Amino acid sequence: MAPGSARPRWWVRSFVNPFFHKTKKAIIRRRTRIDVLPFRKFVVGEKTIIEDFACINNGMGDVIIGKNCMVGISNVLIGPVTIGNNVILAQHVGVSGLNHGYTDIHVPIREQKCTAAEIKIEDDCWIGMNVVITAGITIGKHSIVAGGSVVTKDVPPYTIVGGNPAKIIKQYNPQTEQWERTDGLKNEYINIAYKNDDLPQSKLK
Ligand SMILES: CC(C)(COP(=O)(O)OP(=O)(O)OC[C@H]1O[C@@H](n2cnc3c(N)ncnc32)[C@H](O)[C@@H]1OP(=O)(O)O)[C@@H](O)C(=O)NCCC(=O)NCCS
Repeated sequence: MAPGSARPRWWVRSFVNPFFHKTKKAIIRRRTRIDVLPFRKFVVGEKTIIEDFACINNGMGDVIIGKNCMVGISNVLIGPVTIGNNVILAQHVGVSGLNHGYTDIHVPIREQKCTAAEIKIEDDCWIGMNVVITAGITIGKHSIVAGGSVVTKDVPPYTIVGGNPAKIIKQYNPQTEQWERTDGLKNEYINIAYKNDDLPQSKLK
């Protein structure tokens, strides 16, 4: 990269990266910004589509995307980020495992050391448009983040969260086999003991 730039030089993108990254079975549209370095992982599984105007950056950590995912128009994914299989990221989603250091008031934030914490989005999730997911967060399997939300805490599996900061709206109840409102608990994160064993096996892949 040129000093101060977040984009690898053209010859790294064109001639070096293809030997290091596993993306051949995916569809990466032409107008994307794939700002990836060869010495960190950039993996995209088969049948995954990365739409135009998306930007992927692995400068601070690996970016691993599973199979059959949709990375929508204008998404920004900054590693470390790990996404499972069959995940939908709608449009304008921001997922950043990077934070700028800010604690030293005598040094501009741009010059302070960045920190990184992996974001994990497990299989089958749907992340609505304009969502922001902050560093270090895990979104559990088959969960939904409602459009426009800012996720600052882990989301349990089989859960719908929404708002800024995102709170639980509904959870799948394995006893009733229904997605149920969590009224009265909206201001707290709850977690109805979701282990895969608790769910009807017929509904699990
Ligand atoms: C979350 C979503 C799927 C709705 O799920 P649902 O189960 O039908 O939820 P409901 O409409 O019954 O809403 C349940 C509660 O959540 C709230 N809610 C719904 N969407 C919300 C959002 N984006 N942010 C905050 N709260 C939201 C509703 O206001 C309602 O609360 P209330 O009754 O106290 O007013 C939908 O609102 C959403 O955000 N979809 C994303 C759309 C999108 O990004 N599409 C891109 C195409 S891939």
